[in-house]
Amino acid sequence: MKKMLGLSVLVIVGGLIFQGFTSTGSDGSAEAPPTIKFPKKVDAVIKNKCYGCHSADGKSDKAKAALMWDDLASLEPAMQAEKLKNITHVLSEGSMPPKMMVEKMPEKALTMAEKSIMAKWAGKMSKKVSKKLM
Ligand code: HEC
Repeated sequence: MKKMLGLSVLVIVGGLIFQGFTSTGSDGSAEAPPTIKFPKKVDAVIKNKCYGCHSADGKSDKAKAALMWDDLASLEPAMQAEKLKNITHVLSEGSMPPKMMVEKMPEKALTMAEKSIMAKWAGKMSKKVSKKLM
């Protein structure tokens, strides 16, 4: 029993150290902790098509309440799972960016390729997060 306890403390401390290492990039900028990662392609789609509303600078409180990209990586796994489920949902519905915006700025619509990049990413991250929930 004592051995088990020691081992789990080791794992926790190890995890914290690991997180400490990875959460700050070499240039000192904040990077996502291990679970939720944003590969370049995904990041580009988010920045171009989603970030304007779902970030601190967004003008809609509703959008900010629904999803903040910058917070996603630091949420509890259960919340991450919820957000990822919502992301998957809006992708399959084609409901984001909102119709109103796409009507005014058709270039803001997600292309098929972008949708597929995002959907694959959300699926992969959901799997990772659900492992943490077990
Ligand atoms: C023009 C602003 C705007 C842009 C751009 C935008 N959204 Fe949203 N989003 C909103 C608003 C407003 C809501 C809240 C809708 C509501 O509460 O009815 C929302 C809600 C959401 C939700 C929560 C939906 C739910 O069921 O809870 C998700 C997920 C989401 N957006 C993902 C995205 C993604 C992914 C993109 C980029 C492809 C994106 N949004 C781009 C404004 C935006």
